[in-house]
Amino acid sequence: MLELVNVVKKFNISGNKEDERTALDHVSLQIKPGEFITIIGGNGSGKSTTLNIISGALTPDKGKVLLNGYDTTKIPEYQKAAYFGRVFQDPMVGTAANMSVYENLEIAYARGRTHKPWKWGFSASHKKYFIEELKKFDLELEDRLNQKVGVMSGGQRQALTLLMATMRQRPSERIIKRDYVRFCETDKSKAKEEVEQAFLLAKKERKEALLKLKEETFSKEVRKGRKAVINQEYKNKIYKFDLTKQILLLDEHTAALDPKTASKVLELTEKIVTENQMTTIMVTHNMKDAIRYGNRLIMMSHGKIVVDVSGEEKKKLTVEQLLNMFQVASKDDTMSDAAILGD
Ligand SMILES: Nc1ncnc2c1ncn2[C@@H]1O[C@H](COP(=O)(O)OP(=O)(O)OP(=O)(O)O)[C@@H](O)[C@H]1O
Ligand SMILES: [Mg+2]
Repeated sequence: MLELVNVVKKFNISGNKEDERTALDHVSLQIKPGEFITIIGGNGSGKSTTLNIISGALTPDKGKVLLNGYDTTKIPEYQKAAYFGRVFQDPMVGTAANMSVYENLEIAYARGRTHKPWKWGFSASHKKYFIEELKKFDLELEDRLNQKVGVMSGGQRQALTLLMATMRQRPSERIIKRDYVRFCETDKSKAKEEVEQAFLLAKKERKEALLKLKEETFSKEVRKGRKAVINQEYKNKIYKFDLTKQILLLDEHTAALDPKTASKVLELTEKIVTENQMTTIMVTHNMKDAIRYGNRLIMMSHGKIVVDVSGEEKKKLTVEQLLNMFQVASKDDTMSDAAILGD
């Protein structure tokens, strides 16, 4: 669970009191694991600042940021990087233009891996994994592994950034156990006992299943398939305890793309988020997209959350209703009609 508690953030470029801007004005927000939130609001209403506070790019003046009940307010962004994936509006930002698709993916893959120093090199197993992932995108990116990212279209770059933001090496069993105990909100010794027992049981069940498989007279192919299933079942039991799944932060990541590519990247976003049950916060200027995607919608105005709807209530929303809410709640905020209606 991710939580903002009474967060205040002010900016003052000149140092004069009258130039002070309150970007976030006592914002409190609880985000449950697996929630997909869309944030909408006028220019300067505090949407990007909210994401920056969550990721640790900005520190609040007042208030707290809790991750799984753990106070991360003062933890710098680079230390939290393994827990967040980010995609920004500008396709140029998320990827390195002078590097190939493969090199960009390697860097993303190594992110947050603190137990081993990152070595520059080529890995056949990584390549295989990247190709499998890129194929899912259906943008022919898998044939371009050696191409420099700089020559690719904005849509392709955003799709690549999305993959880079959402893939990571799974933490080791040791790290999963450690974080499960560290982040548990109740009795720590009980949590330790629980995770140890579950891991032991999973190991025992895998061993038994593999022994049983040995006794069967399957063909080589079938045996290989069965073995993969047993290993996957084992992994599922272990990763159930992984509390440090990434949180995806998207800041108008399709705003710079043409409508067709934008909707393709949005579909892709939804697919990745659903498949991985990722907690996601997506800032958008487009009311249709804010309604269509996600299971909770938040509207911001002048650094405050003014609307917060989820579930059935959100599903039933129409653009017209949302526009009314915007006019009532956001008073003198500005938002262009094209952005709002976004056809
Ligand atoms: N680094 C900064 N320095 C000074 N002021 C800032 C900074 N970042 C944000 N602000 C101010 O804080 C307020 C909130 O900005 P924020 O970027 O969060 O808005 P936003 O909702 O993302 O707007 P937009 O839709 O234009 O992206 C604005 O008044 C903005 O000018
Ligand atoms: Mg912004």
